[in-house]
Formats: sequence, structure tokens, C-alpha cells
Amino acid sequence: MKDFLIAPSILSADFARLGEDVERVLAAGADVVHFDVMDNHYVPNLTFGAPICKALRDYGITAPIDVHLMVKPVDRIIPDFAKAGASMITFHAEASEHIDRSLQLIKEHGCQAGLVFNPATPLHYLDHVMDKLDMILLMSVNPGFGGQSFIPETLNKLREVRRRIDESGRDIRLEIDGGVKVDNIREIAEAGADMFVAGSAIFGQPDYKAVIDEMRAELSK
Ligand code: DX5
Ligand code: ZN
Repeated sequence: MKDFLIAPSILSADFARLGEDVERVLAAGADVVHFDVMDNHYVPNLTFGAPICKALRDYGITAPIDVHLMVKPVDRIIPDFAKAGASMITFHAEASEHIDRSLQLIKEHGCQAGLVFNPATPLHYLDHVMDKLDMILLMSVNPGFGGQSFIPETLNKLREVRRRIDESGRDIRLEIDGGVKVDNIREIAEAGADMFVAGSAIFGQPDYKAVIDEMRAELSK
């Protein structure tokens, strides 16, 4: 079976018991913790910053933490997250004044670097940075909130990005974020994604393991 990563978005976790809830979802078989940082400026919602990431590390979470920055500006906050224990840091193409510099900054701080595309953001931002990317994140909803529906046009975009990655010959993860559920994960994988963020689909059910097992069963079909 292909190497697929399941990354629950803690945007839908129980914030009052965050450490325990993250521990539970990892014990249920999740691979990566997806950490949604929103600033009420680039996106119309406000979540958490680097101290919460550090708190998860201090609590004993050792799984990779995938920090999805929905903030503007981005550069100022990158070192904070690297020091707080982020493993991967992604930011939105439109939110950085200097995309190449932001990618370099992430890598200089020892994290994997990725670029995020909103549903209507064109892919030309990829043209001159493929050599600096460890991952590409396609948003399949407009960023800011959990629990929205998957935008079907994203499947075409996924196919296009998968083609570009394969052409580049580089080992770049293709992450999808928004509206991922048991009943669409297989189609999304077939379009080229190999890393799946799921918030409400996992945290909205009492049995996290049952959902993650069902997702893996779909992926292995
Ligand atoms: C949206 C966030 C997503 C969100 C996904 O801006 O980036 O990570 O939490 O939530 P679901 O899986 O519920 O669409
Ligand atoms: Zn996200």
C-alpha cells in the first residue's frame, strides 16, 4: 500500500483537554497532528499560536506536528513555531511577500516547508520553487473554519499538482485539507493526494479509531 498519512486537524479537538485529545487521536492511529493557526486577519477566525504547540510537546506529544499558517505576515512567526516543536510549516502563497524567502526561513529553522493554495489560487506560484518544497497543501475549502464541504473542482487541481510533482522527480508530499471524509477519501487519493487532513470527520465521532480505520480501509481498496 502507498504511504498515506492521516493528519487530524485539532481545530475540531476539545480545546479544554487538548493534550489528552491529541494523545487519544494518535493512539487511534493518526500519523501527524495538523495544527491550524488563524489570525483573524488573513482568515476570519482566531485560533492558537506557538505556545500551544510547545505545550503539546511539553505534554509529551512526539508525533510530527504539521503547522498550517493562515496568517499574514508569515515570516515573523516561523522561528517561533520552529522553536515550539513544529515538524512541518506551510503558509499560503498570497500571505507571503517573498515566497522563496519564507520557504528558506522554514528550512533554515530545521522544518519541512510547504506552500498552501486556496481553492481559487492559481498554481503558477509553484513555477520557480519546486526545488524548495517538501510538501504542497491544496485547500479543498476556503480557509477559516472546520466542517465545510469539499469543493469538487479541487480534484482537477490535485491531478494537475500530482502531474507536476511526478514531473519534477522530487519527493514532495501532496496534502489535502478541508471536507475530507470516509466517503470521499478514496477519490481524493486517486486524484493524487497522499496526506489527508480531517478535522470534523474524526473529532466529530466518539470513536476516533473506527473512523481512521475506515479511512485506511478506503485507501487500501
Ligand atoms: C480550515 C482548516 C482545516 C479544517 C479542516 O481552514 O485549515 O484544517 O480544520 O476541517 P474539516 O476536516 O472539518 O473540513
Ligand atoms: Zn488546515
